[in-house]
Amino acid sequence: MTPEHTVLGIETSCDETAAAVVRRRADGGVEVLSSVVASQVAEHAPFGGVVPEIAARAHVETIEAIVERALGEAGVSYGGLTGVAATAGPGLVGGVMVGLSFGKAVALARDLPLVAVNHLEGHAVSARLGAERIDYPFLLLLVSGGHCQLLHVAGVGEARRIGSTIDDAAGEAFDKIAKTLGLPYPGGPALEALAEGGDATRFTLPRMLLGRKDCDFSFSGLKTAAARLAEGLTTEAERRDLAAAVQKAIAGQLAEKSDRAMKAQVQAHPKGARRFVVAGGVAANRAVRARLQAVAEMNGFSFSAPPLAYCTDNAAMIALAGAERLAAGLSDTLDAVARPRWPLDEAAAAASPTHLPGRKGAKA
Ligand SMILES: Nc1ncnc2c1ncn2[C@@H]1O[C@H](COP(=O)(O)OP(=O)(O)OP(=O)(O)O)[C@@H](O)[C@H]1O
Ligand SMILES: [Mg+2]
Repeated sequence: MTPEHTVLGIETSCDETAAAVVRRRADGGVEVLSSVVASQVAEHAPFGGVVPEIAARAHVETIEAIVERALGEAGVSYGGLTGVAATAGPGLVGGVMVGLSFGKAVALARDLPLVAVNHLEGHAVSARLGAERIDYPFLLLLVSGGHCQLLHVAGVGEARRIGSTIDDAAGEAFDKIAKTLGLPYPGGPALEALAEGGDATRFTLPRMLLGRKDCDFSFSGLKTAAARLAEGLTTEAERRDLAAAVQKAIAGQLAEKSDRAMKAQVQAHPKGARRFVVAGGVAANRAVRARLQAVAEMNGFSFSAPPLAYCTDNAAMIALAGAERLAAGLSDTLDAVARPRWPLDEAAAAASPTHLPGRKGAKA
């Protein structure tokens, strides 16, 4: 049994300043003591996307107050912590430096171990923030604003990439198509709301890469087709129907490739564990969740997704990733650097440079 860990998590890789306190008990159980997320959406909305300079400044201005609030809500003082975990990448480097520096300062002042967390490892463990206990290994679909990948996760820091997008990330596709439909940033949740009650069969959209036998994704053709259709729309009902068709097409591709990955896994390891986890902002989409759950059930896999609040960026997932590393005897020195690019599976990323990280091109 490893000792209990009470970890302060800090997340500043994009446009949310977040801090959280998470306790990982000796038996591996998880308690979120607090999770505070200060969104910068209002600051970036006039520009239709995240402006790195504005993001970094906003993180500097709010980080201290957010950390204090997370500690206060958790009822834990600095003295009650056993570790500090801060996102060290991938992300907008100015913001990452703010959170990582703050984490280092706390670690140094309080003589606590520091974990420099890969933001994607945070998403990978986020489903464990719910009531459910999820053991390793599991098949992970990571679908966020900057990433769209299928990974085999064998343990802490052990992820092997099975497939990845060759152009845009799924969240990026939602955001860009939402923009062509005149929806505000961030577009994913707005598109989901518009699609409510829409007829997904009115418009035909291209089905991408479905003839290929791999687990890669592509959304650029869908984006172009949707933009062309959006130009000709005149009624609100048509907008709703196109949103529903887009959502169905994205969910369909995610389901199709996840199905392929599950079948390949069963073929390679017929007696292996069958667990499927979806994480990242797009996992908040109900249509996506429902399609993936159905595919998992069909293949005899368990299905897990983070509670809605932990799909998009938050610091609870960073604190938990840190606690898991501490429990495995891993920590970092105060020399840890902010990394704008940091793939979860570094070997796969180096071997196939055509697989792009997505919107925040800098990100992996
Ligand atoms: N309900 C929803 N339906 C569809 N997309 C959604 C929904 N909620 C959030 N998203 C999308 O999720 C993305 C944000 O997710 P997340 O915060 O995990 O990404 P990120 O941190 O920006 O990227 P990354 O984690 O890859 O660095 C955005 O693209 C957003 O539009
Ligand atoms: Mg994220």
